Amino acid sequence: MSACSQTAAAWSRCLVVFSELRRAGLRPDLASFQCLARACGHGGHWRGALQILVAMREQRIVDSGDVVRSAVAWACEASVEPMSRNVTTARGARKEQKEDALLDFLRQNAATGDLDGAIAAFERFVRECQWLKVAGGQKARLLENSVHPGDRVVEFGTYMGYSALVVARRLRALGGGGRVISCEVDANAAEIARAVILWAGAQHEIDVRIGCAFDWIASGQLGLIDLLVLDHRGERYHTDLQAVEHQLSCRARIFADNVLHPGAPLFLAYIKDRFHTRIHEVKEFLHTPPIDDWVVICTPLSGQRSTQQPLPPEMRRWSAKVDAICQGSQQRTVDWHGFQQDFKRAMYDWNPPGIFAASPRHRSDSGRRS
Ligand SMILES: C[S@@+](CC[C@H](N)C(=O)[O-])C[C@H]1O[C@@H](n2cnc3c(N)ncnc32)[C@H](O)[C@@H]1O
Repeated sequence: MSACSQTAAAWSRCLVVFSELRRAGLRPDLASFQCLARACGHGGHWRGALQILVAMREQRIVDSGDVVRSAVAWACEASVEPMSRNVTTARGARKEQKEDALLDFLRQNAATGDLDGAIAAFERFVRECQWLKVAGGQKARLLENSVHPGDRVVEFGTYMGYSALVVARRLRALGGGGRVISCEVDANAAEIARAVILWAGAQHEIDVRIGCAFDWIASGQLGLIDLLVLDHRGERYHTDLQAVEHQLSCRARIFADNVLHPGAPLFLAYIKDRFHTRIHEVKEFLHTPPIDDWVVICTPLSGQRSTQQPLPPEMRRWSAKVDAICQGSQQRTVDWHGFQQDFKRAMYDWNPPGIFAASPRHRSDSGRRS
């Protein structure tokens, strides 16, 4: 079901598999309903997607993580039915305490329509109330510097909309024009982000789309892209970039966050020799204790877009290690610092030194092998 829920061409097969499961007396689980909803989206069948929620309620299947609701919301939005968008704006079962607290904080500390004030209040919330994984500080400066006048920006990973607000402010400062489409797989997060963006008065520049990046790419509804911001899941960067490459404009730039923390080794392998790349060594925004991260800014090398080459086994092994430490970090405290020392050393050895924006002295301080 998963395989045929991902393209417009195969969506009806997904429905057939689902019916066969039911006929065989198997009880569908959350993953099957999620696939079914994605398939409905690819088929433009938003009413069918909404029926899934009804069927689940009848069968008393609890979607505590709101994964099916998020997929149904995507199906409705991708079907471009303005009416159906209203149906999905009701909040799901999950409570988003710190994210809701952020929205309250913003409303109390920034005037409505004040974009600068909203960004400043957002940063104050992260500094004074609760840490959120957003691209602030050095990352925000790099992001701003990547924006050109009138850019058509696509971002994967909206979260609460902070980076989208930073881009919108920069577009305004550059004279207006341009727009941001930001895709967020988690419907609850996307709905809070929409409220944040509305409060900041940037709703005409930023279009938050509920759904997984890959599904939006496959829908063909993202248009031409001048600046692609990858800030969703490091392990998906290379596949999503590959899927969207044909939509990059001739002046396209890619901005990828979190390449070191938690890490995107397969992305680094994918862009090598295909993209002109700079790796910027930065700190995670307001993280305690301080932790390093890398931002990659790259541009396609002409004539290299469609070449395929296998990803090196060494980088696949690193990807598995990143996956393992991420999973471990959900259950216990993990040694990110120790992990980063090994990961950095491997990446310094694997990448040509010229692609690091920092000086060689800085790199040797950070554990480069002599
Ligand atoms: C690090 S946060 C993004 C932070 C945001 N760009 C900022 O700086 O303000 C990552 C977000 O990506 C979302 N995400 C994860 N996988 C995704 C996918 N495949 N497609 C779209 N969003 C995804 C997560 O739900 C999460 O909200």
